[in-house]
Amino acid sequence: MSSLVVAVDGTSGSGKSSTCRAVADRLGLRYLDTGAMYRAVAWWMLQHDVNIYEVNEVSAHAATPRLESGTDPLNPTITLDGVDVAVAIRSDAVNAAVSPVSAVPAVRARLVELQRAIIAGGGIVVEGRDIGSVVWPDAGLKVYLTADPAARAARRAAEAGSDDVTATQESLLHRDRIDSGRAVAPLTMPDGAVHIDTTDLTLDQVVDRVVSLATAPA
Ligand code: C5P
Repeated sequence: MSSLVVAVDGTSGSGKSSTCRAVADRLGLRYLDTGAMYRAVAWWMLQHDVNIYEVNEVSAHAATPRLESGTDPLNPTITLDGVDVAVAIRSDAVNAAVSPVSAVPAVRARLVELQRAIIAGGGIVVEGRDIGSVVWPDAGLKVYLTADPAARAARRAAEAGSDDVTATQESLLHRDRIDSGRAVAPLTMPDGAVHIDTTDLTLDQVVDRVVSLATAPA
């Protein structure tokens, strides 16, 4: 199997998940959604009444939940203490909690360690906010996806079956502000990344572009 690591970072709703899953499937690679890992930890904190705005409280529990991420692009799974949380981590409550929780250094340290252990096997497409900059700076291909806020909100609202595009856009921009402004591993375009603005592109066009970059001779 290929040892290629493809790091895909970018803003919320820029099309990372759909793109990464399709690229991994086309190239026969594994897939890792690091956002789902941060979401799962945030969900656990909410379930256990941890005050997510208290860094010490969040830090104290950062290593408590046992987290497992499946890497099949056609069936990405995520379990916490053996419980499937794939649906629960997409709630509005988790959308609101995940960026404050993921700004806590102890949470990042733990999840980056888990992510590196999975990536070390190679042959994987990894999506997140800090993959090309912090988690795996030696990735063979780094991609940075963005899109206009209105396009991102329209896509996310459609996925969630919501017609409140304005509220969805505010939630996305709020997360982007926290993710870009945090002290540790802020969202940024990594050195050497190829920037793709997906606003006016179809999913297939973005996937074709990433696949051709991944398969181009070095
Ligand atoms: O990718 P997704 O939108 O599901 O990510 C949810 C949140 O997880 C992001 O808004 C960000 O706060 C956090 N995250 C992160 N670092 C990553 C992946 C996600 O901080 N590598």
